[in-house]
Amino acid sequence: MTAPNQPVKVTVTGAAGNIAYSLLWRIGAGEVFGPDTLVDLTLMDIPDNVQKVDGVAMELSDSALNKICNLHVTDDAQKAFDGTNAAFLVGAKPRGKGESRADMLEANGKIFIDQGRSINDHAADDVRVLVIGNPANTNTYIANKAAPDVGPEHFNALMRLDHNRTISMLSQKLDEHSSRFESIAVWGNHGDTMFPDIEYATVGGQPVKDRVERDWYVEEFIPRVAKRGSEIIEVRGRSSAASAASAAVDHMRDWVAGTEGKWVTSAVVSNGSYGVDEGLVFGLPVIGINGRWSVVEGLDLNEFQRERIDANIEALRAEAEIADKLF
Ligand code: NAD
Ligand code: LMR
Repeated sequence: MTAPNQPVKVTVTGAAGNIAYSLLWRIGAGEVFGPDTLVDLTLMDIPDNVQKVDGVAMELSDSALNKICNLHVTDDAQKAFDGTNAAFLVGAKPRGKGESRADMLEANGKIFIDQGRSINDHAADDVRVLVIGNPANTNTYIANKAAPDVGPEHFNALMRLDHNRTISMLSQKLDEHSSRFESIAVWGNHGDTMFPDIEYATVGGQPVKDRVERDWYVEEFIPRVAKRGSEIIEVRGRSSAASAASAAVDHMRDWVAGTEGKWVTSAVVSNGSYGVDEGLVFGLPVIGINGRWSVVEGLDLNEFQRERIDANIEALRAEAEIADKLF
């Protein structure tokens, strides 16, 4: 992404928060951009929390992580994205018990107008923007819309956590190691309608759908993956943080380095494939190749898959309508 031996410029927003407290250390340890790449890291948060970020920066510095070559703290969105090659947009309010992720749109959506504009004006040409703050897909839709000079392929929303949860739950059900699963995808929105799809999935080369009961898949598994975020909030008392950071690491690492032909899930700005409205940010099966995502195209969809995908299109259309009014 940058010239050899040049540090990669990375911005993390919400740097005083829970997710950042895990994510920053993984970036600093070289787990995202590789063992040979130095990182010039900018930590950004709102003015009220910038002193906390100073404390986080002190701790990062005390960790003597050998991939960090520079560390900056700012509460200024214009400065935060200056020359950035990779932006993790974490900064946003998490939902509490009983709230849906879509409920966060009113509170969080505007953040992504300002940040999208700043990315448009200041980021490097090769910038990769990964939106984590909820509702992640529609916040990405907003940021992309606010950055008309930056191509849509530069904007993703995090759905790798849903992908990882899917693999983990199948792994427990079938007593198979997570590394043996292939061709899994989570379609749609990082919201209640998300569709973890096992139609093409294999474990050790054998079809997963031959090894699970249809009732379990439809009635238990799909809703459990979709509601896992709420389950964590219920049990932990706060929304997922380390697992979200871990998924963000997986996502950005694979976006940069590729997936060697393996499918993963990324929410990307739709170009119309699978009947998804252009511009909506939709979870799709993708392969990482040459620093870009290539959507797995041409899959035959049965009626059940079509219905689930359509439910996500509807949900995202409704969110986009609200988002458009924020501009
Ligand atoms: P947190 O409350 O611990 O931290 C959020 C931080 O963002 C705070 O420090 C806050 O000051 C900061 N912030 C708020 N507005 C900002 C702005 N305009 N610019 C910069 N920073 C700003 O929350 P968290 O647990 O770190 O979660 C952050 C977001 O990530 C939430 O919206 C949460 O719902 C979402 N999340 C998404 C996924 C996913 O899979 N997509 C997973 C987990 C959490
Ligand atoms: C998650 O899936 O854990 C996050 O989106 C947090 C949430 O609100 O569920």
